Amino acid sequence: MSARLPVACLLLSGCAGAQSALDPGGDQAQALFSLFALMMWVCGVVYVVVVAALGWALWRAWRQRGADARGDGDATHRTDGRLRRLLPVAAGAILIGLTVLITGSFLADRALFATRAAPALEVRVTGHQWWWRIRYRDPASGGWTETANELHLPQGRTVRLVLESADVIHSFWVPGVAGKLDMIPGRTNRLDVTARRAGWYRGQCAEFCGLQHAHMALAVKVEPSDAFRTWLAAQAAPAGRAAGRGGAVFATVCAACHAVRGTAAGGRAGPDLTHVAGRRTLAAGTLTMTRGNLQGWIAQPQAIKPGTSMPAVPLTPADADAVAGYLAGLR
Ligand code: CUA
Repeated sequence: MSARLPVACLLLSGCAGAQSALDPGGDQAQALFSLFALMMWVCGVVYVVVVAALGWALWRAWRQRGADARGDGDATHRTDGRLRRLLPVAAGAILIGLTVLITGSFLADRALFATRAAPALEVRVTGHQWWWRIRYRDPASGGWTETANELHLPQGRTVRLVLESADVIHSFWVPGVAGKLDMIPGRTNRLDVTARRAGWYRGQCAEFCGLQHAHMALAVKVEPSDAFRTWLAAQAAPAGRAAGRGGAVFATVCAACHAVRGTAAGGRAGPDLTHVAGRRTLAAGTLTMTRGNLQGWIAQPQAIKPGTSMPAVPLTPADADAVAGYLAGLR
């Protein structure tokens, strides 16, 4: 078990896509990366100069000690006058370096939070302990389509993320796409993102929000606009699966907390499960989406994610299997 766990973590992190601020896939991430590169160069040059000056000072002290031992006079005082003349140059260089950093930081900040007209697409992301409720507003009808723990973004289009929290402070952070912004109870924050490179990205709640803070990951898919529209239309559609026995058990046991649109299940406490099997991960990035993991999660949520609001439901193995089968068909 101990040897398998790190391997499993490695494989899971591979599944969820990249989580790196050093590999920007969008305009806002690029602005932050450029600021990072500027800071690295300025600070790198300062570091090399300081270390070189320190080395030279040590060498000078060592040479002076040698001169003192030989009794042949003062070797260092001759350079003191020149050093004093260099002081204003050093102070000027520091001032220029700081000005460059402050200007870079100011411009990056403006690029992130430039006031723009509201983009065509608005997505509401609400932090919960410990998952993400995600709602897309249909610009035509004004209706909302809800999903959870997986954010899809159209490539090359600016999307306004409206960030809120349902309980404690969380922080939205998908470093490959955008910067970090807190989700604060009672407050609405807005983050505009323009993703440029298609593919999967990994996000993570970046503010400690309780026991399972580390298991509050977010899968993000950037896809061409056509594919995004197709995906959103499929998400907006009700569940297209006959309920059967699993659906009947779900309706009596799970529906108080979970919704499956198109059925009587309309609970709001937990994630909307209308198309749950179409997602990449389960329990906010804790498990990959497989039928077996669905069944394990239903049977032992507190063993997998201690403290989660999902209670251990007393189901017979046959009922748990039937519910897992039903959910695995909700694509
Ligand atoms: Cu939510 Cu940390």
